[in-house]
Amino acid sequence: MNIKTLDTVDVRGKRVLLRCDLNVPLKDGVITDDGRIKASLPTIKYLLAQGASVVITAHLGRPKGERRPELSLAPVAKRLSELLGESVEFSSEIFGSKLSGSGVTLLENIRYEAAETSKDEVERLVLAKELATYADIFVSDGFGAVHRKHASVYDVAKLLPHAAGYLVAAEVDVLKKLTQSPERPYGVALGGSKVSDKIGVISNLLEKVDTIAIGGGMLFTFLAAKGLQIGKSLVENDLIPTVIELMERAEELGVNFLLPTDIVVAPEFSADARPTIVGADAIPEDQMGLDIGPASAIAFATAIGECKTVFWNGPMGVFEFPNFANGTKVLAEALTKVSGISVVGGGDSAAAVRKLGFADTDFGYISTGGGASLEYLEGKELPGLIVLQ
Ligand code: 3PG
Repeated sequence: MNIKTLDTVDVRGKRVLLRCDLNVPLKDGVITDDGRIKASLPTIKYLLAQGASVVITAHLGRPKGERRPELSLAPVAKRLSELLGESVEFSSEIFGSKLSGSGVTLLENIRYEAAETSKDEVERLVLAKELATYADIFVSDGFGAVHRKHASVYDVAKLLPHAAGYLVAAEVDVLKKLTQSPERPYGVALGGSKVSDKIGVISNLLEKVDTIAIGGGMLFTFLAAKGLQIGKSLVENDLIPTVIELMERAEELGVNFLLPTDIVVAPEFSADARPTIVGADAIPEDQMGLDIGPASAIAFATAIGECKTVFWNGPMGVFEFPNFANGTKVLAEALTKVSGISVVGGGDSAAAVRKLGFADTDFGYISTGGGASLEYLEGKELPGLIVLQ
């Protein structure tokens, strides 16, 4: 897939509508990881250097058409201004916004408008048309949202001359490397809480990879599928037949399919809960698994560390609690030593490695898109990319 890049359009002195993914984690109104804002800077700086005026549209969380104050983009405008070293105007209105016609303006959370995420094309078009009145050109740089058929991602691109920004172009380049003849061995580590989010990607990758390591809350559905007791751990019972099928296919294909052999369990989900290491086949009934055990962490790190191409999405345990962060940390360390290409995919995984003290430069590439990169690797068509072709 070839997408139109920024170099193919003349943005000099033009009004540009720029879609960014500024969906950053916030705690009590404070941004806890500004990676996505930083990743948006190169395109914004380039546009300003070309004398363009920039109107940014972005989302925060899933307010579903409601003006939820805790999901306002106002704190993001402030942080963007600090990082950019330029003032950023914030427009609390989306419809009928009064724009100064110069510099950078960030529009309020586009998902305050129900039309943004509507399944009804006509509704989305009304919003897309309003956004299009603000600009001569549309630049799409919110990679994390390109898998969404939303007004500010998809429909507006049909109304204006358009191009991909530098972030979208860079993300697509990396994902192409992972999909078009990746260097072998190719290893994938997947974690996170829900196996339902990962079924598609596991299924598609089975034919292409040498090793898959499974951690995070989703691993317990695999253990349950093997007939093991998982105590109070997370489980998606309805997916057990699918998971059995995946493991059978992995075996047929000769994929090294790694599940943990030991688990860190605790009586409840809390930072102070007392951790105990048990065998994966000996999880007590009154305990829940909150991390992969130390032996499994080393086994995963060794297998993944030997690969020349690595993709990792999803923490191995509850990394926010120091007692349950070891699996994620050991795996992250292994990725920093990969001699080929290592890609950390997704907002959560990116935030995890930064919180654990790693620098972005320790990895081959940190993707800003969780769902978007997974859907790309699943082989799905992403509406926000298709429209840029
Ligand atoms: C993300 O956080 O992955 C992107 O910002 C997309 O958000 P969404 O899953 O709410 O569409």
